[in-house]
Amino acid sequence: MRRVVFNQKGGVGKSTITCNLAAISAYQGKRTLVIDLDPQGNSTRYLLGNAVDTLDNTLAGFFDQTLNFKLNPKATEDFIVQSPFDKLHVMPSHPLLEELQTKLESRYKIYKLRDALDEISADYDCVFIDTPPALNFYTRSALIAANACLIPFDCDDFSRRALYSLLENVEEIKTDHNRDLQVEGIVVNQYQPRASLPQKMVQELIGEGLPVLQPYLSSSVKIRESHEQSKPMIHLDPKHKLSQEFVALHDSLARRYGV
Ligand SMILES: Nc1ncnc2c1ncn2[C@@H]1O[C@H](COP(=O)(O)OP(=O)(O)OP(=O)(O)O)[C@@H](O)[C@H]1O
Ligand SMILES: [Mg+2]
Repeated sequence: MRRVVFNQKGGVGKSTITCNLAAISAYQGKRTLVIDLDPQGNSTRYLLGNAVDTLDNTLAGFFDQTLNFKLNPKATEDFIVQSPFDKLHVMPSHPLLEELQTKLESRYKIYKLRDALDEISADYDCVFIDTPPALNFYTRSALIAANACLIPFDCDDFSRRALYSLLENVEEIKTDHNRDLQVEGIVVNQYQPRASLPQKMVQELIGEGLPVLQPYLSSSVKIRESHEQSKPMIHLDPKHKLSQEFVALHDSLARRYGV
C-alpha cells in the first residue's frame, strides 16, 4: 500500500499526519517506509531527530543519481535509513532537493520514484509519502507513485475553497499517469468541536458528497512536544486523545485496504 499525503496549502498537517500514521503502522508490526519529498525536511527531523544533520544518503542523492547516469548505480535501499522505531524506515529529505527540481523536471524524471518503489515493493507493507505544499515535480512524482491519496483539511475557509481544484489536480494526474490512484479521503485536522464554523464546513463537505474520513483529529499542544522530542504520539503518549484518534484513523484505513 502506497499512500501520499497531499495538500498544496501549507501547514495543514501533512507531515504530522504522515509520521503519526506511519509510526502506528510500524508499531503494529508492519514494515513501514516514510518518504519525505519536502525539502523543508519536517518529517525527516520528526522521525530521525538530530541524526538528520549527519545523513550521507538522502533523496537528494537518489534523484541526483538519476541525473548523472552510472552503469552501476546505487540501489534504492541504499537511500533508506532505519529510524529509532522498530520497523519504521525513512527515505530522508535534504535541502538540495529544492535546487535539483528544475533539472529533474526538464529531464523527465517524473517516473523515477514510482520505479524505485516498484523495486523495493516486496520489502514494505506500507509506504507513506509526505509532500511539499505545492503542486510541483515532487508532488507529481508522489501522486504517480502512490495508489492512495489522503488530503488533510484544516477547517479553514481558504482550504475549503481550494479543495475542488486540488481534487481536479489529483484526478488529472490519475487520468494521465496513474489509473491506480484513489482519493482515500479527507482528513479533518485541528478540529475544534465547540467552534461552529469548523462544524459547518465539515458538514458542507459531507453534504457535497466528499469522502470525509472519521475520526476528526483534535487540536492539541501535545503535537509540539511530539515534534520537539522527535517522538510520534504513539510513542510519546499512547493514551492521549489525539494518539487514540490517530490509531482509530489508521485502523479504519487499514481495514478498508487490508494494510
Ligand atoms: N492536530 C494538531 N493539533 C495541534 N497542532 C497541530 C496539529 N496538526 C498539526 N499541528 C501544527 O500545525 C503546524 C503545521 O503542521 P505540519 O507541519 O504537519 O503541516 P504541513 O502541512 O506538513 O506543513 P507544510 O505545508 O509546511 O509542510 C505545526 O506547527 C504542527 O505542530
Ligand atoms: Mg510538511
